[in-house]
Parts: sequence; structure tokens; C-alpha cells
Amino acid sequence: MTHSSSDLLHWYDQHRRSLPWRFLPGEKPDPYHVWLSEIMLQQTTVKTVEAYYKRFLKKYPSIHELAAAPLEDILQLWAGLGYYARARNLHACAKVVSELGSFPSSVTELIKLPGIGKYTANAIASIAFGVPVVPVDGNVERITSRVFAITAPLPQSRSHIAEKASSLNNSDPARKHPSDFSQALFDLGATICTPKNPSCLMCPWQSSCQGHKQGIAASLPKKTAKKPK
Ligand code: ADE
Repeated sequence: MTHSSSDLLHWYDQHRRSLPWRFLPGEKPDPYHVWLSEIMLQQTTVKTVEAYYKRFLKKYPSIHELAAAPLEDILQLWAGLGYYARARNLHACAKVVSELGSFPSSVTELIKLPGIGKYTANAIASIAFGVPVVPVDGNVERITSRVFAITAPLPQSRSHIAEKASSLNNSDPARKHPSDFSQALFDLGATICTPKNPSCLMCPWQSSCQGHKQGIAASLPKKTAKKPK
């Protein structure tokens, strides 16, 4: 049996987390909100990001206000989130997009913007613009390595895992609901397919997960031992 995107989407309908950057079914996502949350979520937990995200939107309700703000103010509001290059890129990106008038909607154009790599471009394109691409972060790598029982270790297996992850949305209904599909993967990774003690018995993909079938899900993804420094 293959893992079916309808099982995941159905699960997401019932279990979706309520997060400040999430929009309700039927609502049109604001690319600015999606972008801001994705940049903040890159190296920071959802719990920490929630408060920062709200503060940013309150001070900068649109990307034009963010673009016009002094960098110092942005860095100050960013304080505590770490990785300050992200905040500098945030400002640089806001200026470019404000100048353009709006966010581009394709992965090719998004990836040209400051601070936007493959992951973020795929996240924005799928969530905000409904482009059928899969954003591959650590959560999605973990899910993918388990679903396909990929035992080759990271980081060497990264491109193979990414390739398999891109096939997760190969069929309908995933292709018709890219935004929900990406967010469903994030939620599955955060609440069910967790790094330790995954809740396989509650997983919508339990019956098709090769890692679960082989009893090795919790041990994946394997990682090459770090050389002692
Ligand atoms: N992690 C990265 N992007 C996310 C999102 N949009 N929702 C929840 N967790 C995420």
C-alpha cells in the first residue's frame, strides 16, 4: 500500500494546529505573513516564534512598513531570536519585495530574494501560492526517511531523501492542496512523527510507513557520527 495524501489531508483537517500565521480553510494566505513566519521558524521553535511574530506584525503591518524601517529597529525587535543574519536578510528582502510591489509566486523567482533558499522558497510557493512543491526541512526529512525506510545516514543521504520527499505529493489530492499538504507535513512532524517516541499508532500513514512496518521508525533518520573535536 502506498501512503496516501488523502489520509494525511484528512488527518490535518481534524488536527491542524492553530498558529498565528495560519489562515482558516477558505481564507487567502498573505505571502508577507507566510514569509515572515517561515524566516522566523528557520532556527527557532514554534513556541518562541509566536510572540515575536505577533510583535513584528503589530509594528510592521505590511512589508512596505518593514522595508521603510531603520535596520537598527528591526535588529532590536529581533533580539533574542538569534542568527542576526536572518534579520539583515529580512530587511534586505523586504526592500526588494516592496520595490517589486509584491512577492513573486514561483520558486525560481522567490529563491533569488535575500535570505530565501530552496526550503523557504518551496514553503512560500506552496503555502502562499498553491504551487505543488514540498518544503524539505528537518521534520520532512525525518518523515520521509521513515515512510520509505531510508537507512543511509544524513548528511550523505540528504539529496536522496529530498528526492523522495518531493515525490510525497505526486498524486491527488496533494497536488490540488499544496498549502494544506505542506502544513500537514509540518504538523505531522511536530506532533506525531517526532524525533523521539513517535506516536505511530496515531499516525495517518501508519499502514503504509515502511519504517514502522520494519520496526525501525524511531531510529530514523540515521546520522553519521560526528568526528570528536
Ligand atoms: N515549521 C516551519 N514552517 C512551519 C509552519 N508553517 N507551521 C508550523 N511549523 C512550521
